[in-house]
Amino acid sequence: MSSFDLDSFLSAQQARVEALLHERMDLLVPSGTPPKLAEAMRYSLLAGGKRLRPVLCLTFAEAAARASLASGVAGDAACALEYVHTYSLVHDDLPAMDDDDYRRGRPTNHKVYGEAMAILAGDALLTEAFNLVAGGTEPVRAALCRELAVAAGAAGMVGGQVLDIAEDRPSALDYLVRLHRMKTGALIRAACRMGVLAGGGDVDALARADAYGDAIGLAFQIADDVLDVTATPEQLGKPVGADAAAGRFTFPAVVGLEASKRMAEEKVAQAVAAVRPLEGEDGPLAALARYTVERKS
Ligand code: IPE
Ligand code: IPE
Ligand code: MG
Ligand code: MG
Ligand code: MG
Repeated sequence: MSSFDLDSFLSAQQARVEALLHERMDLLVPSGTPPKLAEAMRYSLLAGGKRLRPVLCLTFAEAAARASLASGVAGDAACALEYVHTYSLVHDDLPAMDDDDYRRGRPTNHKVYGEAMAILAGDALLTEAFNLVAGGTEPVRAALCRELAVAAGAAGMVGGQVLDIAEDRPSALDYLVRLHRMKTGALIRAACRMGVLAGGGDVDALARADAYGDAIGLAFQIADDVLDVTATPEQLGKPVGADAAAGRFTFPAVVGLEASKRMAEEKVAQAVAAVRPLEGEDGPLAALARYTVERKS
């Protein structure tokens, strides 16, 4: 059993991320964003959420660098990850995709602002993410932009979303693993890698972040599929049973609930082993890996 106090760590890191996101959102209107667009962007971005991707980024930056993050690069990278993630949720909920009405405990973006504004708010979050990461003189920013683009793009999140809605998909486990790695795993893995890059970590730290991110990225989406079957809407702040209703291809549907949970646990064990040399026996990264599957929301 871990003695690491994840609850306190997570609350502190989440509060840090909230503050960073608020700072950036407060600049939108003064810099010329139409107020209604800024409102729609803020509505989804500042609606809570676990902030897992930015927390991973900041935690890896600290673990890899063992130094303070005064440069602000890690903060920009962390916020950019949450912008891209939030855009993916706004578009995922659209009628043309999952057609969901409820997200992060409130009506979905298109329910409040209409479909056109939800599409545009997503577009703006995606684009502004790159504005954030590119906005500084540190040479590492170019590599961070590339990491984010590859993870979010055609062979990453967007490609995974396409595999998810494909009507001619094969009913095979290897297809499902590939789809989950792309639609969700890629951005989580990028969060870990971007943390190491922003913190100035070495190649060994980057390889460990990669292995960890790959493992928990898959485990996280397996857990998402499991929670869609086992949790309540109040717990999740989003609908449950949505995957079955939409005819989605999920881990519980393909291998069953128990095997899904076992597979996720195996991935977590791999992730914990990968980061042990970075933080020792009982650190935040191991606790965050367990949280990806033990979470209740
Ligand atoms: C939900 O992500 C969508 C997936 C990629 C599985 P999260 O479970 O991280 O959602 P928030 O950010 O906490 O709302
Ligand atoms: C979405 O997967 C992953 C994204 C890239 C947004 P889901 O469709 O399962 O996510 P939820 O369950 O709606 O959050
Ligand atoms: Mg979906
Ligand atoms: Mg969905
Ligand atoms: Mg889901």
